[in-house]
Parts: sequence; structure tokens; C-alpha cells
Amino acid sequence: MVGIMSFPNTTIGKKVIMAISGVIWVGYLAMHMYGNLKIFGGATYFNHYAEGLRELGAPVFGHAHLLFVARIVFVGSIIAHVWAAITLNLRNKASRPVTYNQHQKLRASTATLTMIYGGVTIAVFIIYHLLHFTLGLLVHPDFDGQNAYHNVIVGFQSYAYIPAIIYLVALIALAFHLYHGTWSMFQTLGLNNKTYNNMIRSLAWAVAIVIPIGFAAVPLSVMFGILQ
Ligand code: HEM
Repeated sequence: MVGIMSFPNTTIGKKVIMAISGVIWVGYLAMHMYGNLKIFGGATYFNHYAEGLRELGAPVFGHAHLLFVARIVFVGSIIAHVWAAITLNLRNKASRPVTYNQHQKLRASTATLTMIYGGVTIAVFIIYHLLHFTLGLLVHPDFDGQNAYHNVIVGFQSYAYIPAIIYLVALIALAFHLYHGTWSMFQTLGLNNKTYNNMIRSLAWAVAIVIPIGFAAVPLSVMFGILQ
């Protein structure tokens, strides 16, 4: 029992926590991105989908109940992910061997810095995004709780498209984070020999390209007048 309880405090335990919470978010992002593409089917279709999210699990689950459970899992995962990232980083700093060669050190620290800055950018973006499209507070000029389609179109069109640009910048940060995160996760699992490395790199590229581009299609289409 003591062994299990102390697992999160070991380096491997923290990496496993990062990997599991990361996979939960990649799964969520893939579904969210896929769902967002329904906006190309028009307002009725998209709003029906947005409302359908609240009916997930019916009739076993009541209105918005499963969504509530999912939200707890996502918030829990993000807290665990950030906690493991910070404590791992502090531990690495404390135990970095002096014999590290200059090249390795440079590569390791560039990747780590990209992950830290990228992670912070994504965290700030999520807060902005929740205010923008879920809560409709402060940053949305004309939020309508019954009309997700309107919220997205007007939300991106407003303020000289600056919100759309904010999303695109966040999506670039997300692409880097997904690439390095997917790669690191497989290193943690020990799949870091020559046979697997090419496959893992291809998978990391695929995740880092498909998800952000799928998301970017919506603000870009609003900016170019394809969606209105
Ligand atoms: C162009 C890109 C995106 C668009 C158009 C978009 C659109 C939306 C919309 C309309 C909602 C509100 C759904 C509703 O309550 O009916 C939402 C919720 C949400 N989005 Fe996004 N999203 C985008 C990107 C992202 C990204 C990149 C992330 C994470 C890094 C993200 C995370 C979330 C979260 C956590 C929620 C709250 C879900 C909930 O609990 O209801 N979204 N998004």
C-alpha cells in the first residue's frame, strides 16, 4: 500500500501520470476537433450537436450529468499533468549531472523550455477559451447560451479578427506541445529503440499536425468568409 501511495512521488510515477493525463487530453482534443468540424454542416446541425453533448449517456444519465463527470476527469487530468510537470522539472534541476555534454544539455533544455512555455500558453488559452465560448464572459461581444454557432462565428469575427489570431497562435503552441509530448511519452514507456523511433516520430507528427489543423480550419474559415 505504501508502495502504491509513494508511486506518484517517483520519477517514473510522475512520468506515467503525465502520460495518462496527456492521453486523456489528446483523446478529448481529437473528439472536440472532430465535433467542431460539424460547424461546416450549418447552424442547425452544429447547435443540435452542441445540445446533444449535454444529453450524452441518456437515458441512463440525466441532462448534462455525463458532461459534468467528463469535466471532472478533464480538470483532474490537467491538474495532475501540471503538477507532475512542475515537480519533475524541479527534480531534474536538482539532480542534473555536471558531466552532461554541452550539445545534449542544449537539446534537453530547448525541448523542456518549449514544453514549459507551450504549456503555460495553452493553460492561459484554455481560460480565455472558456470565458469566450463556454461562459460567454468578458471576452465575447454577443454571447447567446442557446446558439453555439452564433457564438463561434461572432466570437471570431469580432475585434478585427484578433480572437481568431489568438486561437491560431495557441494552436501553434499546441502543435509543438503535442509533438514533443507524444514523443516523450513513448520514451517513458521504454519504446526508444531504432525499430520504433521512426514509427513514434511519424505518430508524433501526425498528432501534432492533424489536431491543430482540424481546429484551425474553423477560425481560418471565418477569417476568409467561408463560414459566416
Ligand atoms: C478553433 C478551435 C476551437 C473551437 C472553435 C472551439 C469551440 C468550442 C466551443 C463552441 C465550446 C463550448 C461548447 C458548449 O458549451 O456548447 C468549447 C468548449 C471547450 N473547449 Fe474548445 N474550441 C476550440 C479549441 C479548443 C482547444 C485547442 C482546447 C484545448 C486545448 C479546447 C478546450 C475546450 C474545453 C476544455 C471546453 C469546455 C468543455 C465543457 O466542459 O463544456 N478547445 N470549445
